[in-house]
Amino acid sequence: MNKITAAITAVGSYVPDFVLSNQVLETLVDTNDEWITTRTGIKERRLLKEEGQGTSFMAIKAAQNLLEKANLDPKDIDLVIMATATPDMPVASTGVYVATQIGATNAFAFDLQAACSSFLYGMSAASAYIASGKYKKVLLIGADKMSSIIDYTDRATCIIFGDGAGAVLFEPNTEGLGLQDEILKSDGIGREFLKIEAGGSILPPSEETVKNKQHFVFQDGKTVFKYAVSGMADVSEKIMQRNNLSHDDINWLVAHQANRRIIDATANRMELDESKVLINIQKYGNTTSATLPLLLSDFENQLKKGDNIIFAAFGGGFTWGAIYLKWAYTK
Ligand code: UT7
Repeated sequence: MNKITAAITAVGSYVPDFVLSNQVLETLVDTNDEWITTRTGIKERRLLKEEGQGTSFMAIKAAQNLLEKANLDPKDIDLVIMATATPDMPVASTGVYVATQIGATNAFAFDLQAACSSFLYGMSAASAYIASGKYKKVLLIGADKMSSIIDYTDRATCIIFGDGAGAVLFEPNTEGLGLQDEILKSDGIGREFLKIEAGGSILPPSEETVKNKQHFVFQDGKTVFKYAVSGMADVSEKIMQRNNLSHDDINWLVAHQANRRIIDATANRMELDESKVLINIQKYGNTTSATLPLLLSDFENQLKKGDNIIFAAFGGGFTWGAIYLKWAYTK
């Protein structure tokens, strides 16, 4: 019997309508379009403005988009993995709510949090469930409402992040397509450089923490940048070597969209032609758990069955890694 691999067989996405442009940010903080564009590659991002709606709102829309495109009955889904750093609530899994709302009544569900690497780690988890032979349809959703944890008076973070959601379906494959290899890493040294200080068990919410703005994302951008450049490039190069892949063998780099310069550094180390590097950071900024599936969704029509794709991400924690996957269908 052929070995079971986990292939991505469908993709869906959702981004909110509201656009926050660099020009509008110029009116909020001391910044300018030229600085943001040259330092990050970002021109605009989407924000979820609907009152009372959280990450699940976007996750449900992305999942429904996938169900519709794939003509899939939600009752056939076995498992929903919700990759997110901004759950609806600190307690009560967002994934469980999403699964119920989309009608995945036969599935179990849980949240997976690994900052900007949540979706990449989720690909590993989803793939392992499929490869075990126990589950046939695993829905992996990456969604984040970063605007709920960003201080729009802090120019170090508000120019970077945006909101969005993407979803992929993993199914068993016996043709050798799907996930081939992975290198996943983490290092707790990163906790100091990218964090939300309060609201957790170390520093519960108080009047003081609100006044001190400790419920917003803090980032030491320079340090994170340094680690991100070497971390993402290292694992991407290593996964190529380990699988005897030259730059000619690789069709696409699907990298976390945090900063255009980090993506370019990774592509350079891989000696990849620019045309193979998927980029949409200019439209959405850093949507944390949603960047990878939003790339797949935006570029789905260009991906061909058998294409060799390297996925790479780096995020808070620190968490990072690379995945080598063979694409399983042509649209
Ligand atoms: O996805 C999770 C992982 N996160 C990341 O990968 C993000 C990693 N970090 C970055 O992408 C970059 O560090 C940033 C985009 C956050 C910042 O870019 P940078 O090139 O590292 O800038 P910097 O912090 O070194 O600041 C350079 C200068 C400073 O001025 P001086 O000291 O040289 O006079 C800053 O004060 O730019 C200034 N600056 C700004 N100027 C205009 C910082 N932020 C801004 C701003 N607009 N928004």
